Amino acid sequence: MSSRFQVAKRAARAAGRMLVEKLEHGRIIKTKGKRDIVTDADYAAERIVRETLLGSFPRDNFLSEEGSVAEQKRLWAQASRSNGIAMWIVDPLDGTTNYSRGLYPFCVSIAMYQTGAVQIGVVYDPVADELFAAERGRGAFLNHKPIHVSANRNIEDAVLAVEWARAPRLRRRTTEIFGRVVERAMTGRAYGSAALGISYIAAGRFDGYLHLSLSPWDVAAAGLIIEEAGGTMTTPTGAPWDVHSQAFVASNGILHARLLRFFK
Ligand code: IPD
Ligand code: CA
Ligand code: CA
Repeated sequence: MSSRFQVAKRAARAAGRMLVEKLEHGRIIKTKGKRDIVTDADYAAERIVRETLLGSFPRDNFLSEEGSVAEQKRLWAQASRSNGIAMWIVDPLDGTTNYSRGLYPFCVSIAMYQTGAVQIGVVYDPVADELFAAERGRGAFLNHKPIHVSANRNIEDAVLAVEWARAPRLRRRTTEIFGRVVERAMTGRAYGSAALGISYIAAGRFDGYLHLSLSPWDVAAAGLIIEEAGGTMTTPTGAPWDVHSQAFVASNGILHARLLRFFK
C-alpha cells in the first residue's frame, strides 16, 4: 500500500470525524450560486484534508471544490502538461445539502490524479464509519474488505440511483430518462451524495447510477473505486469517462448497455 494511499485514508477519517462533531452544532450556510450552498463545515473539512495531505507531501498539488476557480484552472493546466506531479482532487464534503439539513448520507472524497488518470480514490462516510478505497490495479475495499459490484443481470431486479443537475434543462432530461428506467427497475433512489451513490455500486448495493452534471471532485475517487470493484462508468454515449466528463452512467457492467439504451 502506497504511503499516499495511507495518508489519504487518514485525511478522510480526520475530516469525517470533525464533520460528525460539527453536526451537533449550528451550521453557517452560504449560497455559492443557484441551488449551490456551502457551510462552515465544508471549509473546516477542506482545511483538515489539505493540512494532512500537504503535511506529508508538501510538493503535491491540491485542487478542492472550495478553492478559487482561478486556482482550479491553473492546477488543471499544470496537470494536463503531464508533468508527473501528484494532484489531489478533493471534495471535503459531498452531500452538503444533506449535511445542512441534518440528513444522511454525506462523505469526504479524496482522489489522487497523476499522469492523466486517477491513481487513488477514498470516499469516507463518517456516520456509517464506512471507508471505500481503491488504488489503481489493486482492487477496491470497504473498511479493508474487498468489494465487488453486483452480479445482477436483470433491470427488473435492479436498484438504480439518480441525482439532479442544477440546470433546469438537465433536470428535465434526467427525470425523463430516469422515469423510463425506473418504470422497468425494482426501484430507484436519490441519496444526495454522488460519491457515495457510485461507491454503493462498487459494494453491490446499487446496480446503476446516473447524473448529467457532476464535477471532477464528485466523481474522481468513486470512479476509480467502481472500476476497481469490477464496475463500469462511462458517459451517456458510452465513451470512457474522465474526471471532466460531467455526465455519467455507472453500473455493475452487466447492465451497462441496457442502461445506455435509455438515453437514445
Ligand atoms: C453534490 C452532491 C449531489 C449531486 C450534486 C453535487 P456537494 O455535491 O454530490 O448528490 O447531485 O450535483 O454537486 O455540493 O454536496 O459537494
Ligand atoms: Ca460534491
Ligand atoms: Ca462539496
